[in-house]
Amino acid sequence: MAKNRTFTMIKPDAVAEGNSGAILKLIEEAGFRIVAMKMTKLTAERAGQFYAVHKERPFYNDLCVYMSSGHIIAAILEKENGVADFRTLIGATNPAEAAEGTIRNLFAKSIEANAIHGSDSDENAQIEGSFFFADTEKF
Ligand code: RTP
Ligand code: MG
Repeated sequence: MAKNRTFTMIKPDAVAEGNSGAILKLIEEAGFRIVAMKMTKLTAERAGQFYAVHKERPFYNDLCVYMSSGHIIAAILEKENGVADFRTLIGATNPAEAAEGTIRNLFAKSIEANAIHGSDSDENAQIEGSFFFADTEKF
C-alpha cells in the first residue's frame, strides 16, 4: 500500500495538560513520520472555518469556543494507509466508545474535549494540511 499523508491537531485540553509529548510518542511508535509540525492557537473564527463542515450541527459553537481556548499542535503525518490507520490509532470520537489503548481512550476528557483530531479522507488531509502549512510539497 502506498504511503499517504494525514493531518492531526493535538487539541487544547491535551496540550494544556502536558500530554503532547506522550501523544507524539504514541504517534511515532505507531510508525508515522512527522512531516511538518507547529504549536499555534486558533481564533474562534478560524476554528469555525476549519470545522465548517459541522456548521449546522448543535455542537458547532461550543466546538469553536473549545478549539480556540488554548494552544494546539498541528502536524502533517505520513505512513502507509495513513488516514485510516491514524483514525484507528486515535479511536472513536466519544472516549467512552474509544477502544482500549487508543489516544482518545487514554487522554480524552469528553466527546468534545477529545484530545486529538484526525483527517477522515485523503482529500480532507490535503485541505487541512494546507490550512496550516504552506508549500508542504517541499517537505
Ligand atoms: P475530528 O474531526 O476532530 O477528528 O473528530 P471526529 O472526526 O472523530 O468527529 P466529528 O464528527 O468530525 O466532530 C468534530 C469534533 O467536534 C466535537 N464534537 N462534539 N458535543 C458533541 O456531541 C460533539 N460531537 C463532536 C469533538 O471535538 C469532535 O472531535
Ligand atoms: Mg471529523
